[in-house]
Amino acid sequence: MCGIIGYVGPSKVKNILLQGLSQLEYRGYDSAGIAVVGDDGSIHVEKQVGQVKNLKDHCSTMDFDGHVGIGHTRWATHGGVTRENTHPHKQGKVTLCHNGIIENYQSIITAHGFESQLVSETDTEVAAALFNENFNGDPEECIRKTVNELEGSYAFCIIFEGFADRIYCVRNVSPMVASSTKNGSLLASDLTAVIRYSRRYFVIPEYTITVLYDDHIDLFDMDGNTVTPDILEVNWDMESAQKGGYDPFMLKEIHEQPEAIRKNITPRLVNGIPNFEADGIPADAFDHIKAINVVACGTAMYAGMVGKAIIEPVIKIPVQVNIASEFRYSTPLIDSDTLTIVVSQSGETIDTLAGLRKAKECGSKVLAIVNVKGSTIARESDYVLYTHAGPEIAVAITKAYSVQLASFYLISGYMAMRRGIKTVEETREFIEKLDKTIDAISYVLDNKDIIKKAVKKISVARDCYFIGRGLDYAFSMEGSLKLKEISYIHAEAYAAGELKHGTIALIEEGVPVIAFATQDYVYNKSISNIREVKARGAYVILITKENAVIPEDICDMHLTVPIKDDLFTGLPTVAILQLIAYYTSVSKGLNVDKPRNLAKAVTVE
Ligand code: F6R
Repeated sequence: MCGIIGYVGPSKVKNILLQGLSQLEYRGYDSAGIAVVGDDGSIHVEKQVGQVKNLKDHCSTMDFDGHVGIGHTRWATHGGVTRENTHPHKQGKVTLCHNGIIENYQSIITAHGFESQLVSETDTEVAAALFNENFNGDPEECIRKTVNELEGSYAFCIIFEGFADRIYCVRNVSPMVASSTKNGSLLASDLTAVIRYSRRYFVIPEYTITVLYDDHIDLFDMDGNTVTPDILEVNWDMESAQKGGYDPFMLKEIHEQPEAIRKNITPRLVNGIPNFEADGIPADAFDHIKAINVVACGTAMYAGMVGKAIIEPVIKIPVQVNIASEFRYSTPLIDSDTLTIVVSQSGETIDTLAGLRKAKECGSKVLAIVNVKGSTIARESDYVLYTHAGPEIAVAITKAYSVQLASFYLISGYMAMRRGIKTVEETREFIEKLDKTIDAISYVLDNKDIIKKAVKKISVARDCYFIGRGLDYAFSMEGSLKLKEISYIHAEAYAAGELKHGTIALIEEGVPVIAFATQDYVYNKSISNIREVKARGAYVILITKENAVIPEDICDMHLTVPIKDDLFTGLPTVAILQLIAYYTSVSKGLNVDKPRNLAKAVTVE
């Protein structure tokens, strides 16, 4: 949440900051601002409410620039969406941007008597006031003293008066990467803003004072010792982070799924069999565990539910799926016999990170299924399966979910073989079936026009229900989340057999119900449940496998996935659900990539 960019170098900084903020906008788009150090050392701050475009338009009419500057795009936490609450914040000799939440801001205000000097409602300005109070001409000493008093998560990007040639950064939890290039030094909340200038970067370590100069970057720990960062190399290019003919990003990312899944599974196959050696995961990592504990949020948690439905019946060990924000404050019944799998696109979700730490405290080994290389969750886990989906810019997750599912299939196949549940040949066949789902997704994408028709009823509805059993129920949850987050239509997913215990009271003439019957072992049961809603006037969109023989009048629209095996219906089914959400949002004229109130990478509790 929130995006920060900073630059020191020979180029003019204003456009670098504005361009970087556009790249980071998916992290927050309530308001945006920049601070530029002029050649005389004075600091020029500009802010605008709304999207970065507003700030760009505003700045294009103004004549200021420099070679050192910081910028911020905001997802509001403390205080409303106003110009005053927009970063950068300036207090005395300190100008800064912040990503995170300062939890003890109120006690700092009281203890230091800051009430009268604050112009915003933000916790950030309180931190700026504290940095300023602690600043006696030595920025590093000031940072050390200030972070001792701060509680919460933060990534600060700071300009101190009198130090016009550099930017300081310090962080705890909230992410920040930096890169020293031939053309100056950059830092940003994530790589999408840096990759245009360099493929080499490093993740700024926590509690490290990082100082950007035009020709190098210095890092010191809190005792003043020099720190050498681990330099990483990006494995995707700028094109991946651009729309490439698609508009918006979400449609591009939906279409990238076949390729993303291929990139996820192909390098992990040796003679057609899953192998995680190249990921640094020991061959026996899954052998002796008695349970799996999945911890994740939102879509990633729903991927975990599919993982449970794939792994439990085959491996026959319990798989518990936990909402990370609950798990972190619970008393988990796990130990070294449990493998915890944390799932996260960004690798920075704060609740998932806290869940990871809690699982480790309990003695559980942690495997992360993560998309962003070098992210905090990846670094803190015992093992990492990178999902290799490339950058995902639309706030609503699509391809990152598919590759999370693909990772669970790989794990399931691998565990089954290692435990002697499947022979090598059976494992190979299992993987071949996974591979065939890629073509099935392409089929759905090639025939997407039919889905456009399906959404006509949904886009004018107030409520929409998703029902299914078993694996279908797991997909329903993701379908319902996708629809509500980008179309603002109230949507709920229900286990189909559960409806008649209350929810069916909400079904009336014309209410859209997206019903799944892709699982043979509960096909008839699902069809009965669908009849129950149809009998009450629901507009039913039914999703089945391609050869399903469906009863007459059971639905108003029938969509199929070209898959024969129950276990593999997920990936193409989900592509249908993503397209339903996408076309609904488009037909309502909404901002598909940047739905209201949301942001990518949820780094606050
Ligand atoms: C839904 C969505 C969120 C994320 C959740 C976890 O489209 O984007 O529900 O899935 O915030 O994010 P990550 O995967 O980054 O941990």
